[in-house]
Amino acid sequence: MSIGTSLSLAADLLRQDELVAIPTETVYGLAGNALSPDALVKIFEVKNRPTFDPLIVHCKDRKDLEKYVLEIPAWASALMDQYCPGPLTFLLDRQKNIPDLVTSGLPRVAIRIPAHPLVQQLLQRLPFPLAAPSANPFGYISPTEALHVHAQLGGKIPYILDGGPCGIGLESTIIGEEEGRLVIYRAGGLAIEELERLCGPLERRLGSSAPHAPGMLQSHYAPKKKLLLGNLEKLCMEYPEASVLSFQISLPDRKNLVLSPQGDMKEAARNLFAYLRQLDISPEPLIISELVPEYGLGPAINDRLLRASTPSL
Ligand code: TXA
Ligand code: MG
Repeated sequence: MSIGTSLSLAADLLRQDELVAIPTETVYGLAGNALSPDALVKIFEVKNRPTFDPLIVHCKDRKDLEKYVLEIPAWASALMDQYCPGPLTFLLDRQKNIPDLVTSGLPRVAIRIPAHPLVQQLLQRLPFPLAAPSANPFGYISPTEALHVHAQLGGKIPYILDGGPCGIGLESTIIGEEEGRLVIYRAGGLAIEELERLCGPLERRLGSSAPHAPGMLQSHYAPKKKLLLGNLEKLCMEYPEASVLSFQISLPDRKNLVLSPQGDMKEAARNLFAYLRQLDISPEPLIISELVPEYGLGPAINDRLLRASTPSL
């Protein structure tokens, strides 16, 4: 297994139904040929992911995307004009050329156009789109650097394409239509309030369970250690041995990572998964943290923190 920036090696491997970890602007993905059942089976095996949890298809551009969906409704077309390529995934009725394994047999396919220049160049070289879940073992924190992928899936895949740290750091926002209403299924790297500026009020069905909605399982994005959420001052007194992940304030005399000293929500999003990883491997026995304010990417960050946290505490 190696890490590098060779597009030709990555493309060759993918043409042979091998898997390659790819950088995207959101998080690193574990990519395989979306049209090849052999490659798709490998994705589920390497990730240890249940096959009822469907995969996102990554296309180079809108023309390519049109080959795999029955139609692009007006709402999706307007959003694509504004935000694609970018961190937005559409749930659209699929064409028959999308294998059942991609959608877990569901009628809609989750499909997006990633913006990262390296994955764009890779897609330009390939005659097929890429299916890619986040490149972490099922249920663990998503990787935002090539080395994160290496730490967890190294040895299981032949190549990691290194595109540097991900610029956004949270998975894509997922949107679809149900009975004429637009629904957000996963808060992600594109703020819901930004989408609402174009689409009007959106229904949020975050965390509803698969198979009809994205597999937003209660426990997900989780570190191995206990993560407790709440009032930091109180938690600090109760758990003097814990490390701290705070939003803006820094705490003296203990291991503390600050998501964004300036309170910049984009910076906080970019740091979230990497910091959770750091605290997961540091010597302190548990992590304490707090929810962030609910503006911009705040709801998406809080969604990940809540899923990463230890329930009932
Ligand atoms: O930013 C992202 O979206 C990253 C990068 C690699 O593109 N990918 C990602 O994939 O986060 P994954 O597999 O970790 O999360 C995809 C979510 C899952 O919760 C899955 O259940 C949902 O999308 N999903 C995929 N296809 C679906 C479908 N046909 N219907 C409903 N939910 C679907
Ligand atoms: Mg994931």
